[in-house]
Amino acid sequence: MKDILDKLEARREEARAGGGQARIDAQHKRGKLTARERIELLLDKGSFEEFDMFVEHRSSEFGMEKQKIPGDGVVTGWGTVNGRTVYLFSKDFTVFGGSLSETHAQKIIKVQDMAMKARAPVIGLFDAGGARIQEGVAALGGYGEVFKRNVIASGVIPQISVIMGPCAGGDVYSPAMTDFIFMVRDTSYMFVTGPDVVKTVTNEVVTAEELGGASVHTAKSGVADGSFENDVECLLQMRRLIDFLPANNESGVPEWPTQDETDRIDESLDTLIPDNPNKPYDIKELIVKVADEGDFFEIAQAYAKNIVTGFGRIAGKTVGFVANQPMVLAGVLDSDASRKGARFVRFCDAFNIPIVTFVDVPGFLPGTAQEYNGLIKHGAKLLFAYSQCTVPLVTVITRKAFGGAYDVMASKHVGGDLNYAWPTAQIAVMGAKGAVEIIFRADIGDKDKIAARTKEYEDRFLSPFVAAERGYIDDVIMPHSTRRRIARALAMLKDKHVEVPKRKHDNLPL
Ligand code: HXC
Repeated sequence: MKDILDKLEARREEARAGGGQARIDAQHKRGKLTARERIELLLDKGSFEEFDMFVEHRSSEFGMEKQKIPGDGVVTGWGTVNGRTVYLFSKDFTVFGGSLSETHAQKIIKVQDMAMKARAPVIGLFDAGGARIQEGVAALGGYGEVFKRNVIASGVIPQISVIMGPCAGGDVYSPAMTDFIFMVRDTSYMFVTGPDVVKTVTNEVVTAEELGGASVHTAKSGVADGSFENDVECLLQMRRLIDFLPANNESGVPEWPTQDETDRIDESLDTLIPDNPNKPYDIKELIVKVADEGDFFEIAQAYAKNIVTGFGRIAGKTVGFVANQPMVLAGVLDSDASRKGARFVRFCDAFNIPIVTFVDVPGFLPGTAQEYNGLIKHGAKLLFAYSQCTVPLVTVITRKAFGGAYDVMASKHVGGDLNYAWPTAQIAVMGAKGAVEIIFRADIGDKDKIAARTKEYEDRFLSPFVAAERGYIDDVIMPHSTRRRIARALAMLKDKHVEVPKRKHDNLPL
């Protein structure tokens, strides 16, 4: 008997060793943890249950039959994060660069299928070079099966991808179909093909960082939703994110104990809006002051900073915050901000997370750069996303709500359930200067007349009351009571139910 037990332990040891000590050392030298060390940090202590640690590839091309490593480049299984079940796979770069073989794909597919049956999130830790070149179409087929499952699971269970090394091919396309992508700064890269192939095909000489580092994907391309200093910080932040997310689209949001009273008032909000309407202020201050314990997990912080998106809690339950940011481009909606906002709103709606929207928006950004880039289609994405929501929508207009952007930002007309305005709100087709110059064009030469017209326009339209008189705004509220009003609104809306007409799916403007 002892022999058998020893044999099992020996086989386990072999699997745990992955690609061997030299490669593990190289991994550490690059500032990266191993696949297993990452799992230890992500999951609750001792909660990891591994599947398929003895699986090997079946390839015999290019002498591969002589190079078999149990586990075949990916560690898979399930465990808990603060007691809640998650499934995961962690690519092992020390084994064939974490590349995906037919059997490696089957291990991931098993996890995806089990997660779907159990309706629990899947987290992928990526550090891998895509399809295993020696396996050819068998590897491509494996990826196809993984992709298909990513799509079937979309909107049913949360899928999170964490990029923790150089990733190419399928190891970027599968993440691209999941809900969130996070990266580690200076050690992780994402590209369809790496710098060497780029040089061969296009003659372009580019470093991995320039081609697909965290700064590229979090700030320029918008492919990634955030980045962290190192593996440890990244994994701890993933635990924090998971605490915000529902297990699936029918579970409802998780509820955590909180000491923060929902009727807490915050007098400082009464002076948040500067006297000068063109002066910026930080909308994140409002989010943090409204959320339970000021806890806000921002999504896509470095991209399209003119809109802020992220998760917080009210009365212990997750909400999605969407807010125009007056500090950046005066909070205007452009193509990037619209896409960023739309994707976040759709995630929240898919997983039944109520959305709180703070509005201070001067309109859509005009100009050729935006029009050539398809602002009409991109702006429509955000409009479409809000209009499609069936989750509770609570909107607070803090200052400007001008033009089409007023309609878009969860207005009453597109489905806002409770629409509040601060007394400082200005709800109109446009600001005073632009408006007067158009409707009183004949008076432009007459300074006094223009000043009088401007004053008249400001008095009549740059307030929340025209909208409130029509019932487009349910109430004009005191800024200091914003948290209490939102908390009450969400409590009232907790069983919101909306019937939508039967259809196969919508045709979101892509
Ligand atoms: C087999 C691979 C591999 C792969 C890396 N390795 N990628 N083995 N198949 N795809 C192996 C290397 O041979 C090496 O083995 C070890 O992993 C580490 O790789 P290095 O190149 O030494 O590391 P590094 O310099 O850090 O570069 C990492 C890399 C690069 C950027 C990922 O290896 C690379 O560009 N790989 C190819 C990427 C690629 O084009 N993949 C195919 C994509 S097609 P040894 O034994 O030396 O340690 C695809 C189709 C999916 O995925 C469909 C999409 C729609």
